[in-house]
Parts: sequence; C-alpha cells; structure tokens
Amino acid sequence: MQNGMSLKQYLINQQRSGMDIAADLVDLICETAVTCKEITARIDRASLEGALGVAGSENVQGEEQKKLDIITNDVMYEHLSTTGLLAGMGSEEVDDPMMIPNQYPRGRYLIYFDPLDGSSNIDVNISVGTIFSIVEAPHGTDTPSPDDFHQSGTEQIAAGFCVYGPSTTLVLTVGNGVAMFTLDRSVGEFILVRDNVQIPEDTQEFAINMSNQRFWEPPVQKYIADCLAGETGPLGKRYNMRWVASMVAEVFRILTRGGIFLYPMDERIRDKGGKLRLMYEANPISFIVEQAGGASSTGRERIMEVEARALHQRVPVILGSKNEVEKVVEYHKGE
Ligand code: AHG
Ligand code: MN
Ligand code: MN
Repeated sequence: MQNGMSLKQYLINQQRSGMDIAADLVDLICETAVTCKEITARIDRASLEGALGVAGSENVQGEEQKKLDIITNDVMYEHLSTTGLLAGMGSEEVDDPMMIPNQYPRGRYLIYFDPLDGSSNIDVNISVGTIFSIVEAPHGTDTPSPDDFHQSGTEQIAAGFCVYGPSTTLVLTVGNGVAMFTLDRSVGEFILVRDNVQIPEDTQEFAINMSNQRFWEPPVQKYIADCLAGETGPLGKRYNMRWVASMVAEVFRILTRGGIFLYPMDERIRDKGGKLRLMYEANPISFIVEQAGGASSTGRERIMEVEARALHQRVPVILGSKNEVEKVVEYHKGE
C-alpha cells in the first residue's frame, strides 16, 4: 500500500480490498481520531494553561486523577456522544458505563477508552497516550445494560492507540493487520506512515517495573532472573531493559523493534486481579499485538479470551515478540 494516504483513505482502501468494514465504523474510527487531535492540542498547551498536576480527586480504581485525566476523558465523552454512532462508552475515569444523552441519536457500537495512558508521565514531559477498543453493542442501539459491556477481547472489531510523543502517532487495527499514522499538523490529518507492521518474533529486550520484583509470582521471578543471567544463563542471550511507565510507548517500541512487556501479577495486587485493565488497556493492545504477529497472555491464558466480568477488571499482562512470550508461558507451565 502506498504511503501518504489519510486515515479515511486507508479505511476506504481496506473496504475496497474486501474487508468488511461498515461505513459507520469508518466514521467512528475517524471521529475517535478527531478526539486524539484535540487531545494532542490540549497536552501541547497544558503547561501554559495550568492543566498539569493533580485534580484532587480519585477514580473508581482508587487512583489519584491528574487534571489531564479528566480533561481528556471529557474531550472523548463530549465529542463521541454527539456522533450518533455509539450506544455507550466505558472509560477508565468513570465508574459506570456512560450512556448517550437523550438529545443525541444512538448508534450500534460500544467504545472503551483509556483517555490518558501513562498519566504519571504527564508532568515530566514523557510520552503518554490514548487507547480505545470498539465492539458492537450486543442488543443494538437500545440503552445497553451493564452486562452488555462485558465482552471479551475476541469481540473487538477495531482497536487503536495514539502516542503523544515527539510526534503524535495513531496505531490502528480493524482486524487486517496493523497500520501507523502520524499526525501532520500542517494539514490536520493522520497520514499513513507504516502498514502491515510486524513485530520481530525474537527479542533481547524486556520491559518490566523492576522495583516490584520481590512481589512477583515465581515464574516471572525465574524468567527475569534468567534474562539477567545473560549469555551464560539458561536463555543464552544478553538482554537490554526499558521501562517508560506508559504502556503505549512501550508497545510502540515493541511494534517497531520487538521486545517483551510484562505487568505481571504481584502479591500486593492479587485481590484486584493485576494492575492493567482488561477492557480498555489489555484487550485493545492485545488485539494490535496479535495482528502484528506478536502474542499476548496473562501467563496462563490468551488475554483476548479472558472472560469479561466487569468494566474495570484487571489482568496480568505479558505481551510482545511471539517466541519470547511463549517462553514466559512455558515458565508458567512448570509451576
Ligand atoms: P494509567 O496512566 O492509564 O493509569 O496507566 C498506567 C499504566 C501503564 O501505562 C504503565 O505501563 C503502568 O501503568 C505504569 O506502572 P508503574 O507506575 O508501576 O510504573
Ligand atoms: Mn492506562
Ligand atoms: Mn489512564
């Protein structure tokens, strides 16, 4: 596919090449991309507008909200509710599923989003992002029930994330590989820069928050110890390490040069089920990683097949280069 096409042209090309992408799904993806443009601008101006720092509130997960967590959530909710394309929304920042206000028409999709991923990095000017996942509402455009929001990752029809870094880049899958678009600010469009993104199957680079080491489960303890043992250890390779603390940035790196990312279960978060959230972090990122030839697992189960029981459900996450993820899954089998 030629480079230089806009996001909408890319989606139309996908339709022409036989992909079953409904016109209202194209519209929804493009409208979601509009919110990412608006968020780019809000992040850009945040330090000038006094929008950095904490908001003084907590979200349903008991996490301190940054001002920009709330601003970006509002940008997404307010814009997407007017589109007539959605039956409801689920956000990291809002306890319950969000319905479409009565004055607007409804559509047949549900969207889940993490409006600002990596928000601990916002005040220190390190890359953050937005993650989204789109499914069909199981009962059409009527007001969805809370249960309608409990759909496993295999039900996703599109997923994407945007990284607000040195450039704003959108990564997207509609179930036919992964494409990357960079925001050309001079024309205000996301322009295709890479199609058919493939994650190298092997890697010598891992990403994990090492400060949690003593709390991890034994299989992850053993795997990381073996990585650290280097060439003469059981894995026979010398590893490099990265930890940005924005999953979007880690996954962008993995899509570009391979790697493995782990946010494993640890004993302090066992009762919560893990750290990262299934519906708007783990599922969309897993869909993208699998579509790019990588793998994504809890260590014991494919993430996209984890049964969804709650909007803010959490899971352990191990994803990236296929052969390396499979190795870590093997460590779990030996328990
Ligand atoms: P969020 O900012 O949406 O709460 O997500 C942050 C997530 C993820 O992006 C990142 O990988 C991880 O939390 C960082 O965790 P640590 O603070 O343990 O480094
Ligand atoms: Mn997040
Ligand atoms: Mn977030």
